[in-house]
Amino acid sequence: MILIETIEKLKEVLLRIKSNGKTIGFVPTMGALHEGHISLIKKAKSENQVVVLSIFVNPLQFDKPDDLEKYPRDLEKDLLMVEHCVDIVFAPAVQEIFPTSPTENYSFGGLETVMEGASRPGHFNGVATIVKRLFDFVQPNRAYFGEKDFQQLAIIRQLVEQTKSEVTIVSCPVIREPNGLAMSSRNQLLSFAKKNIASKVYGIINKSKALGTTSVKKINDFVFAEVKKLEPIKLDYFTIIDEITLKSVDSLDDATSVVACVAFTIGEVRLIDMIRFK
Ligand code: PAF
Repeated sequence: MILIETIEKLKEVLLRIKSNGKTIGFVPTMGALHEGHISLIKKAKSENQVVVLSIFVNPLQFDKPDDLEKYPRDLEKDLLMVEHCVDIVFAPAVQEIFPTSPTENYSFGGLETVMEGASRPGHFNGVATIVKRLFDFVQPNRAYFGEKDFQQLAIIRQLVEQTKSEVTIVSCPVIREPNGLAMSSRNQLLSFAKKNIASKVYGIINKSKALGTTSVKKINDFVFAEVKKLEPIKLDYFTIIDEITLKSVDSLDDATSVVACVAFTIGEVRLIDMIRFK
């Protein structure tokens, strides 16, 4: 594994790899790596000859300075975790990626204004800006993203279409702790007890599937009432949506593929998750 910190060096190394006809799988991350990231890396390794992992805490996608400051960072630990499973780690400084103030302005036909977009203004413009820049530097054959960030995945697919990028987006299922909590870098900010409480949200949503109703109102009523009992969790949103349009549905029969997206805070930590209904 080699660690690269500059765009110039990255391009030089990748040029050599590509001129040998090798395919590149790319896993963009913000570090604080966990088993969810490892599952993306394994998938990338199984489908490409070379795997590039980026570690970059992108300031543009944080709407609160405090959240950016507290985001977990441990490059040394991350490098130890991936030294035998990736070929290149690209870990640039902020100045390297944004030497001047970025001016990109993306819109995704409304996909970016619901759920996370409504709660975190500017978040997806920040995500699209960094992902597009990273794609331009790495020019991968395939790029790997987790389904936990379900809305992000839909937006990145749109980004690829809009910018006529050649990269194939590969999505990978949510990886969970044994108690059901979706793996997230932010879990590192939680105590054992809080992680346990947070995992109960997943339990409740799963239970709502067993209600055997197609009425989204009935599912919502159940989930809202049950999550309300979980101190100190504060539900931001729980929305049952059409997988393609990300628009909320009234009945599970209203779309072919239906997922629930949820966001909540526990103390200062904000977590998201997704659960497939059908
Ligand atoms: O999902 C993430 O970790 C980030 O949003 C991403 C895609 C690496 C962009 O900063």
